[in-house]
Amino acid sequence: MSYQDLYQRAVRDPEGFWREQAEKLPWHQTPRKILGKDDQDHYRWFAGGQLNISELALDRHVEAGRGDQAAIIYDSPATNSQSRLSFRELRDRVALLAGGLRDLGVAKGDRVVIYMPMVPEAVIAMLACARLGAIHSVVFGGFQPHELAVRIDDARPKVLLTASCGIEFSKVIPYKPLVDEAIRRSAEPPPRTVVLQRPECHADMDPERDLDWQDVVAKAKPADPVPVDATHPLYILYTSGTTGKPKGVVRDTGGYAVALNFSMKYVYNLDPGDVFWTASDVGWVVGHSYIVYGPLIYGCTTVVFEGKPVRTPDAGTFWRVIAEHQVKVFFTAPTAFRAVKKEDPEAKLLADYDISCLRAIYQAGERLDPPTYEWLKRITGLPVIDHWWQTETGWPIASNPMGIDPQPEKSGSATFPVPGYQVEVLDPKGQPVEAGTQGNLAIRLPLPPGCLPTLWNDPARFHSAYLERFPGYYDTSDGGFIDEDGYIFVMGRMDDVINVAGHRLSTGEMEELIGGHSAVAECAVVGLRDEMKGETPMGFVVLKNGADIDHATLEQDLVDIVRNEIGAFACLRQVAIVQKLPKTRSGKILRKSIRQLSLEKDVSVPSTIDDPSSLEEIRSAMDKAGLRQF
Ligand code: COA
Ligand code: AMP
Repeated sequence: MSYQDLYQRAVRDPEGFWREQAEKLPWHQTPRKILGKDDQDHYRWFAGGQLNISELALDRHVEAGRGDQAAIIYDSPATNSQSRLSFRELRDRVALLAGGLRDLGVAKGDRVVIYMPMVPEAVIAMLACARLGAIHSVVFGGFQPHELAVRIDDARPKVLLTASCGIEFSKVIPYKPLVDEAIRRSAEPPPRTVVLQRPECHADMDPERDLDWQDVVAKAKPADPVPVDATHPLYILYTSGTTGKPKGVVRDTGGYAVALNFSMKYVYNLDPGDVFWTASDVGWVVGHSYIVYGPLIYGCTTVVFEGKPVRTPDAGTFWRVIAEHQVKVFFTAPTAFRAVKKEDPEAKLLADYDISCLRAIYQAGERLDPPTYEWLKRITGLPVIDHWWQTETGWPIASNPMGIDPQPEKSGSATFPVPGYQVEVLDPKGQPVEAGTQGNLAIRLPLPPGCLPTLWNDPARFHSAYLERFPGYYDTSDGGFIDEDGYIFVMGRMDDVINVAGHRLSTGEMEELIGGHSAVAECAVVGLRDEMKGETPMGFVVLKNGADIDHATLEQDLVDIVRNEIGAFACLRQVAIVQKLPKTRSGKILRKSIRQLSLEKDVSVPSTIDDPSSLEEIRSAMDKAGLRQF
């Protein structure tokens, strides 16, 4: 079938299209209604349907004869170890942990926070929650206690699952002190913590609260899957918005299962039994969808990789893992390949490995810049597929339809909208613009199955953040254009969200933290161009009158605040103290002009500026920091 035919079918008859996709999965109860609305007037898919996603991902494959196939290949250069879990073994371990959680009082609808490194137990934990109908909320292991506490207080979990440590390159990072601190700061701490002790680091336990993972499963009886409604939340995944309070993106169960199952063929062109490797982290949406749920629901083997693109031990790691585990499709963020390219520009290490098993490389999380795209094409000769998505959507909005009708690639483009997504480019007044003109990327409602139905505890914010600005559309907050051939080019965020090495961060939150310092009158944090990480934040700070503090000390204090409150991966490494921030005459900070200074040699002074010398001051602060080398 041609791409256009399939796409148009989904536009003309969304219910027929998605009913057909839903029929590809076994349901305990088939949906009563394919597309409807809830009492908040939000679209909902597959109401009345009942299923259990851990059963879909595990039990049904065992029953269908896939029990001995590897479900997980764990490859950990961080610990110099490897292991495999078959679908049968994974089902049994998930059922036991689910039984253990049940013994701790976890039941359908309860929340469980998971703060784990990239080990198979992280996947087991997610699936064990899903088995009980409990709602998991995975928090990326790079977040500091403040962020973990904010998420705990919003989700109010019954149990928190963690490990004694994570490993970054060769550095062991004890997690338990971070968890203890988060619990101390939390207003609604979980009554129970279950800790996976890893050989690299022993966690001290609080006998009143902490339980050893092995003890919990040793005492447990396996739990059967609990069927839940299609609209039941499977997980909450917090993501950065424009303020300090993260948004709790809710993912429902039925729509997600159907969408992921569809995408495994349509987007990734995989078949059950193939090996799929997504080098990301279970703390991000990419990890949820394409390390855990997508591949396992579809019967693929997934690789859980605890390592880095470089220095674990070298820039040939990606090629080694692909060759050793016969990976058919590989997916990672462009920044990871930029790191490889920097260390091994001629890809000499690739010659050591036979990667003929690999059929395509997928990229997302940030814009795939044309130089990285061209380099990857040159060194591998393979299709290099840029595809665009967000935590909110849970699966790709735009991609090359590799599984049904591959299209010619265009450098810098994520190709065409995936069936179910009607993407349009709107001007600030909400009017569609001409082909080739930049504007706001918006998706006409209804969103397809799998996308967020609401925000946890905050339906009003769901409405104001996504639906209010362009009535009848979902506002992606991304900017870009669609060319004459219908190819989508995503150029970057239009709000105060930045992308640092594929990690989504809020400059608004950093401003709130920096602005909390007693010497700071006001500040602006702006994402500036970074060759390796895409963007890194830099802060510009105006001091309170009479603030008596050494500038170098203050700059370091502010860098430390972001590092200690959000996490080192936020990479706020520079803060400059200035007399004045560039503002319009009505008092709006000219963040765009600040950003442009790092991108262009000659930036024109906006006519609305209050005091042109303020921009000059920023220019010289950037020069001093070596940020303007054109
Ligand atoms: N736990 C604890 N700390 C973490 C962490 C984690 N899970 N992840 C990152 N950090 C820390 C690092 O240790 C580092 O700390 P340091 O400043 O003390 O050295 C800091 O955060 C910055 O880390 P990172 O952004 O990973 O930069 P790097 O220079 O160490 O490595 C890359 C560069 C390109 C190798 C790395 O950024 C990378 O692998 N990026 C790919 C990210 C990705 O897959 N994103 C996908 C999202 S879809
Ligand atoms: P996250 O929610 O962390 O997945 O981040 C989503 C954001 O990452 C999007 O809003 C985009 O700004 C950016 N992004 C993701 N994929 C792409 C892509 N293929 N091209 C450009 N930007 C992307």
